[in-house]
Amino acid sequence: MLHSAVLNVMIKAARRAGRSLKRDLGEVEQLQVSLKGPRNFVTAADHRAEAILREELTKARPDYGFLGEEGGAHPGTDKTHRWIVDPLDGTTNFLHGIPHFAIAIALERSGAIVAGLIYNPANDEMFVAERGKGAFLNDRRIRVAARQRLADAVVGCGLPHYGRGDLALARSEIAAAQRAFAGLRRYGAATLDLAWVAAGRLDAFWERDLSPWDLAAGSLVVREAGGFLSDLDGGDAILSKGNVVAGNETMHRELLRLLREAAKAAGTEAAAASP
Ligand code: IPD
Ligand code: CA
Ligand code: CA
Repeated sequence: MLHSAVLNVMIKAARRAGRSLKRDLGEVEQLQVSLKGPRNFVTAADHRAEAILREELTKARPDYGFLGEEGGAHPGTDKTHRWIVDPLDGTTNFLHGIPHFAIAIALERSGAIVAGLIYNPANDEMFVAERGKGAFLNDRRIRVAARQRLADAVVGCGLPHYGRGDLALARSEIAAAQRAFAGLRRYGAATLDLAWVAAGRLDAFWERDLSPWDLAAGSLVVREAGGFLSDLDGGDAILSKGNVVAGNETMHRELLRLLREAAKAAGTEAAAASP
């Protein structure tokens, strides 16, 4: 299949970084049984992957800016283009040897995402999209699921991490989702959650407290697969607010409504509990 030059650059970079992560996953599996555990090794693997991505992407487009989770922002001389990169999404999974993690690369042009890639090296699944050209999984066109009944839907979510986030709110949202949907999933890699919505595996997904590199590539992949996506207030400020609701038109609308009600209920409970 023919891709644009820029997408080829992204694919080549992701494959090279993916080989590095896959090799390192083998080592991580060995380290599970060591007393020290694999944590330091995983941090190094993460940095190695970002270094590869930065090298490949800047070699091909030396003027573009670069925002990576590990290395932060490197402004380019071309102020209209910027790479947004998560070298290892699903770090906790990777740390535990769970083969569900991804490399995510997005290209932003004048504030809009125009190309996105999410690659899981463990199973060699690569999701790509370019604005106006559709979304693909390993060169096969993908579409969001058509399901309309909430009671048939399987929905992904994020959960607050240890010591962070609003637990009462999360509990209220999860309870509401459990009442409405056939099943709830927490897979642990937001970029893949979005890619899986695009591929019709998940009917919907929501999460709070994310970063631009978790959302940039997936937001385009979902839209190009015919999906709907917004922040939790129903607007378009996904990257700046760091939260997202995604699905087909019905699932997106219904999940958004349900989450709003859950937030209201959590607020009412908190108010009733405070002296
Ligand atoms: C995390 C994953 C996870 C989500 C977290 C993210 P990381 O990214 O996407 O699913 O729940 O909030 O930060 O740290 O593994 O790159
Ligand atoms: Ca991430
Ligand atoms: Ca990461």
